[in-house]
Amino acid sequence: MRERDNVDLIVVGAGIAGLTAALSAAAAGLRVVVLNKGPRWRADRGEQSTSTFYAQGGIAVVEPDNPEDSIDLHVSDTLAAGAGLTDVHATRPIIADGWPAITELVARGAEFDRDADGSFRRTREGGHSVRRIIHSGGDATGAQVQRALGQMMTASLNSALTCIDDAVVTDLLIADGTVVGAAYRTPDSGRVRVIYAPTVLLATGGAGHLYAATTNPAGATADGIALALRAGAHVADLEFIQFHPTMLYLPGARGRRTLISEAVRGEGGRLVDARGESVTAGIHPMGDLAPRDVVSRAVQASMQASGDDCVYLDISEVDDFERRFPTVTAGLRAAGIADGHVPQRIPVVPGAHYLCGGVVASPSGQTSVPGLLVAGEVARTGLHGANRLASNSLLEGLVMGRNAAGVAIRRTGLPVADVSPPEVEDRPAMDRKVLQDLMSGKVALARSAAGLAETAAALLAAPNRAMTTVGDLEDAALTLTARAVVAAALAREESRGCHSRVDFPALDALDGVATSRVFNFDGQTVRPIVEAVCV
Ligand code: SIN
Repeated sequence: MRERDNVDLIVVGAGIAGLTAALSAAAAGLRVVVLNKGPRWRADRGEQSTSTFYAQGGIAVVEPDNPEDSIDLHVSDTLAAGAGLTDVHATRPIIADGWPAITELVARGAEFDRDADGSFRRTREGGHSVRRIIHSGGDATGAQVQRALGQMMTASLNSALTCIDDAVVTDLLIADGTVVGAAYRTPDSGRVRVIYAPTVLLATGGAGHLYAATTNPAGATADGIALALRAGAHVADLEFIQFHPTMLYLPGARGRRTLISEAVRGEGGRLVDARGESVTAGIHPMGDLAPRDVVSRAVQASMQASGDDCVYLDISEVDDFERRFPTVTAGLRAAGIADGHVPQRIPVVPGAHYLCGGVVASPSGQTSVPGLLVAGEVARTGLHGANRLASNSLLEGLVMGRNAAGVAIRRTGLPVADVSPPEVEDRPAMDRKVLQDLMSGKVALARSAAGLAETAAALLAAPNRAMTTVGDLEDAALTLTARAVVAAALAREESRGCHSRVDFPALDALDGVATSRVFNFDGQTVRPIVEAVCV
């Protein structure tokens, strides 16, 4: 028998979900390999490859001794934001596990902003009825979490916990319908290598680079969705792509653009048009702090009405902006917007920010394929429904990472079949710029049957390409995922949450029940999930 690399758990991805799972599993004695598409985390690196690093606002969590808050209230805010598709059976345990998970994160070295008495400072964001979002370094929460987990990972590396950087996974290995390992490439080896394990966890983040401009880092190219689909897993709710209402506007800029945290509005920022009129007046009782889909549509409607290219975030009422929001301030400076002081009005537009759907999974990350787990943005647990509540994403990644480690612990010792990795075959891959422009034009905040059908046809015609570089693999992942997004958007003949159809502007609230559709690799509906009551 040839020599095999065997471990107990393979983790693909090195953000909050992946590193939490890796550290938890290693602490329980498992042999763990992390396959990290990016370079090794380093404290002095201003740019990092994970979406976690760029998260600003914070982590939504109910502190047990906060008399104003409760698990019930957080669940109810999450359901309201999710526009009828949030699964309460997944939501409650994820939210209830938030506090123990945060306590563990703090024990791993994460520091949060605190008042003089040691209690966590809390802010508010869209859709939250109370101040429950804990943060770090003002608006550098994700960077803090990445630092804590990255440092602990580096300190914990040994023969049982390894991290392979710049590693791109080409395929999952499958034997008799069970995932038994992963094949990957690194630039220095060039050739495909294989690791076997009874459990593979995809914690690969999101898909922001389906669009020309996004708040996501360059690696957010839907890799995990594509790997899971090719392994036979099911996806759902992919039509719900959340556009953040306040991404920095720079004429013509593409790729990752600076996010202006929703917490700015939580601290008094106001969305106004060029004439200083409120963008959200009369639209929702929560005004500028309405759920994100509502605010993004209001921004878009204001821009359409005025013909302007952006609206403005008026920060004149925000105390000590540069100290409270150092990450935003640095982003504005880097973009040449704030040479001296930050301007009182920051130009903003909605930007692709978060994939609410993903690979169908339990709160512990279990998918329809044995041996395959998912955690974080790549997963669809039902927590986010049709529109994610702000700052529930780091919470979900953290809780699912812990839970997934528990599943991996239970699966340790299961037999792992020996299969050879397939050759990396040619795959349909559209030119990235063409794909992004199509998705930005036809599959963004306003969609129609005609635009979706045009996009579907173009995606279907994508030529096969040899998978030579990381960029080729990413383009193929984007193409496959875009097909699935468009199939889901075509199938949903209503407007709900982040999905707006100009040809079906109303909710389809049949009998007060809303339905998620589960899709397979071919873009076919496998089954509906009917479990949510419209709110
Ligand atoms: C933000 O800081 O506005 C982003 C938080 C989130 O996406 O949950």
